[in-house]
Amino acid sequence: MTVSIIIGAQWGDEGKGRITDLLGSKMDVVARFSGGDNAGHTVTIADQIYKLHLIPSGIIHENTTCLIGGGVVLNPKVFLREVADLRERGVSIEPDRLLISNTTHLITPAHIALDTAKEKALGDKAIGTTQRGIGPAYSDKTDRSGIRAGMLAHPEALADAIHAHIAAKNVILTTIYGAEPLDAEAIAVEYLEYARQIAPHLTDGVGFLHEALEDGKRILAEGAQGTLLDLDHGTYPFVTSSSPTASGAMLGLGLGPKAADKIIGVTKAFSSRVGAGAFVTELDGAAARRLRGSGENPWDEYGTTTGRPRRVGWLDLPALKYASDINSFTELVLTKLDILSGLEEIPVCVAYEHDGERVRFSADNDHLLACTPVYESRPGWSEDIINCTNFDELPANAQAYVNYVAEQIGVPVSTVSVGPARRHTIFLS
Ligand code: GDP
Ligand code: IMO
Ligand code: MG
Repeated sequence: MTVSIIIGAQWGDEGKGRITDLLGSKMDVVARFSGGDNAGHTVTIADQIYKLHLIPSGIIHENTTCLIGGGVVLNPKVFLREVADLRERGVSIEPDRLLISNTTHLITPAHIALDTAKEKALGDKAIGTTQRGIGPAYSDKTDRSGIRAGMLAHPEALADAIHAHIAAKNVILTTIYGAEPLDAEAIAVEYLEYARQIAPHLTDGVGFLHEALEDGKRILAEGAQGTLLDLDHGTYPFVTSSSPTASGAMLGLGLGPKAADKIIGVTKAFSSRVGAGAFVTELDGAAARRLRGSGENPWDEYGTTTGRPRRVGWLDLPALKYASDINSFTELVLTKLDILSGLEEIPVCVAYEHDGERVRFSADNDHLLACTPVYESRPGWSEDIINCTNFDELPANAQAYVNYVAEQIGVPVSTVSVGPARRHTIFLS
């Protein structure tokens, strides 16, 4: 079998984009399976930094075909802007190299307006969404009233669907949220133009993938978000509206549960989260500033999509073990080990305490808010490790940190990254 899946093992932003880029050179197909342009995946190639939101990070490798799978929600405006930006930077994008599944659902301005209005109405209970219309688009899909990308090939039906969709959403926007109504005709005209440009990218995504597998091609599924943001298994309601897990990859691409041979969990060497919700190992003050960085480096902890400062904390092993259990990780990738250089001691959360009892991570936000972390201190290292190219070159305590994580989770660490670029990668196996 030849399907590998890259999954965020925390709350997103673990470095999935750069790992997809690394593995992409050996792949024939790179496919996104969930989420939309709420994702922000950074790929650093020498002095070039690419920030991809919707288009799979594999696009930078000329030999790969990229697929936006049926589990994704696609904003056509963002898609076309990203295509234009990449072309401007010299990435060749022909429609047969960047495919969109007919069953992918479309995001409309009404979804974005609803996302914004709902967040505003929630006040201090807001989820902290990226306001890209993700939740409302998935709600329509579940409600069986969404508009699929396949309709972009049928302009008349598309125009009718947009009119009906905007009319229905205008009722909600104006009566429930007191927002301005949207102009259905203007949006229909806008979407007809998108349809003209996007129709050549449309395909039967499931058929394409199975044909690729029959031809012995290698497929990489690029996760977005992270396991702890999963609609079912994350810290509900502070989650995204899709399934960023290995099971979600199979669902979003139309593959069977036995199709994957590698399930790669990507985790930072510490933790971060953007948006609201429980975060047991969260730090504040100077300790947080130390992990987050000041914002002057491109890799400092500020959102790729929204620019918001990320919340940060120590590595959380109960949460990582939970993610491993949910996804059946076959290997772990540990990113941003370099950020821990210079710390004398590195606290790692090894358990949660709740009412004096040791408990596991569970998808219950209120329960997690009442948990306190139990820390074990790991010895740090003072050396700068960014130029280490193999495991033996890492300081002994850095090696021990990596080995410790693998032992505690019971999954081997296959790759460690010590900087954002391709060369800052150490392969252990
Ligand atoms: P993704 O959403 O999982 O693809 O991750 P993001 O791109 O949103 O955030 C990860 C950030 O960390 C980006 O700025 C990456 O360039 C950067 N990065 C990834 N791995 C490393 C690493 O090992 N060291 C450092 N310093 N930066 C890294
Ligand atoms: P990548 O792929 C980090 C978070 C938002 C918010 C919650 C719901 O770059 O790892 P949504 O807009 O999805 O309805 O927001 O999910 N979120 C992410 N956080 N990385 C992401 O993607 C995220 N995508 C969504 O901050 O808390
Ligand atoms: Mg990101």
